[in-house]
Amino acid sequence: MSDKTPELSLQTLIHDNKAKKNVITIEGTVDTGFEGIALEECIEIFGNEVKCCRSRGRIFFNIVSDAENIYKLRKMRSVDNLYQIISTEKIDFDGKDKDVDLSTIKDIVNRYDFKQDIPVWASCMAYLGIAFPTSEQSQRALAVNNILKEKAGSANKKEGEADVKVEGSESIDSLKNDCDEIKLDKVKINEELPSNKEELDQYLRDNELNVLKFRATCNRVGKHSFSSMEAARDFGGQLHDNYMWLVDLKYYDLEVVLNICDYEIYIGLALTRESMHKRNITHFGPTTLRATLCHNLLRFARPQIGDIVVDPLCGGGSIPFECSLAFPYTFNICGDNHEKAVNRTLCNLNSLETLYKKPLPLDVFQWDAARLPLRSGSVDVFTTDLPFGKRSGRKIDNGPLYRRVMKELTRVVRLESGRAVLMTHDRKTFTKIFSSFSQYWTNQHRIGINLGGLDAGVFVLKRTARMI
Ligand SMILES: C[S@@+](CC[C@H](N)C(=O)[O-])C[C@H]1O[C@@H](n2cnc3c(N)ncnc32)[C@H](O)[C@@H]1O
Repeated sequence: MSDKTPELSLQTLIHDNKAKKNVITIEGTVDTGFEGIALEECIEIFGNEVKCCRSRGRIFFNIVSDAENIYKLRKMRSVDNLYQIISTEKIDFDGKDKDVDLSTIKDIVNRYDFKQDIPVWASCMAYLGIAFPTSEQSQRALAVNNILKEKAGSANKKEGEADVKVEGSESIDSLKNDCDEIKLDKVKINEELPSNKEELDQYLRDNELNVLKFRATCNRVGKHSFSSMEAARDFGGQLHDNYMWLVDLKYYDLEVVLNICDYEIYIGLALTRESMHKRNITHFGPTTLRATLCHNLLRFARPQIGDIVVDPLCGGGSIPFECSLAFPYTFNICGDNHEKAVNRTLCNLNSLETLYKKPLPLDVFQWDAARLPLRSGSVDVFTTDLPFGKRSGRKIDNGPLYRRVMKELTRVVRLESGRAVLMTHDRKTFTKIFSSFSQYWTNQHRIGINLGGLDAGVFVLKRTARMI
């Protein structure tokens, strides 16, 4: 775990949380390069005193696990996924013998008492089922679960289709065998099971069949004698044996994540069912940005009360939507030269205004970003994601387009205080073009990020006093 702030590490945070009652350690995942900006949000939300640190693509912080903080946690906009980190340790892996190393992984589960952390996880996730089932409850729940799966399977399966085996589901198969030993009147249960979801949930609760369903996953960095899938399988298998939770790779209540980085491990309980970036967009385009990434780009621009914020190449509007929701004291203007993109933005705007039941501080135009219908020196912030010639535009056009757009931004942005945060995958071309604008802008930061395997650059610029 490199790139930590010098004072704190994940180990010290966990140590601190174990020493104090009601303190939990949270992990938030973020695009590499935005860890510092995500920590800023964390401090803004939880206060200057929050103990925090970062590593590549992650931030960690300690909070008191009360209802107010859990609510605030859900309001974070810079991070994609959240985890409650419960333990960390250094492991002496053999490195050669797979069986030895996998049994070391099982031992991690045997050494650690998960019971102490599950209640906090359950309250964060509003989980109301049986977290610590008896063996009988677990076996009965498993048998009923299998009946439900069979029902769902035969409903979904077309005639003549074979069963699909879920990868990594050996533990499920072995559990199915266990359940054959339980004496259950399958026919009777089949008849009793309601088809309506709410009634089914009630039936499971009334019959103490709502036993915790979980899945184990493994994120692994470094060279090891085992694969991530093998580690997850054995780690999850041991969790099942020790706590009698049901394995369900798809409809799980709890996801336990084993993170292995060379010889260090840490264990997290997922606090998000899906990434928090899925919040603003209903009409997606070929280059739609994630809301969390938009948020982090906007934070670099430090939007102030009354700022006019413009995205001149807005695609489906991801950046201006995030700005008008996260920084509602700004006014946003955006546009695109493509009719389809403008229509997508309008559809997304309509969905958001319906969702929030209020108009957003945002205007949308069809325009050429190199000929903006805006007065010189009238815009406080430009934040945009430039076309780079793969999913949008042609690489050969990047140079001329970037030059024309830069010239226009230089004219329209406010002298001295104006900012621009520009992202592009074609860093080389942008850097070349920018060299001829260096008297008009200072380059305050340049961040390299990786988006789904593609490298990109974020340029944070501030306008100088020089007239164009
Ligand atoms: C990388 S995409 C922006 C994606 C956007 N951030 C989103 O999340 O949907 C770049 C956009 O620039 C637009 N574009 C290209 N040349 C333009 C120009 N001269 N004026 C305005 N928009 C332009 C393209 O139509 C495309 O929608």
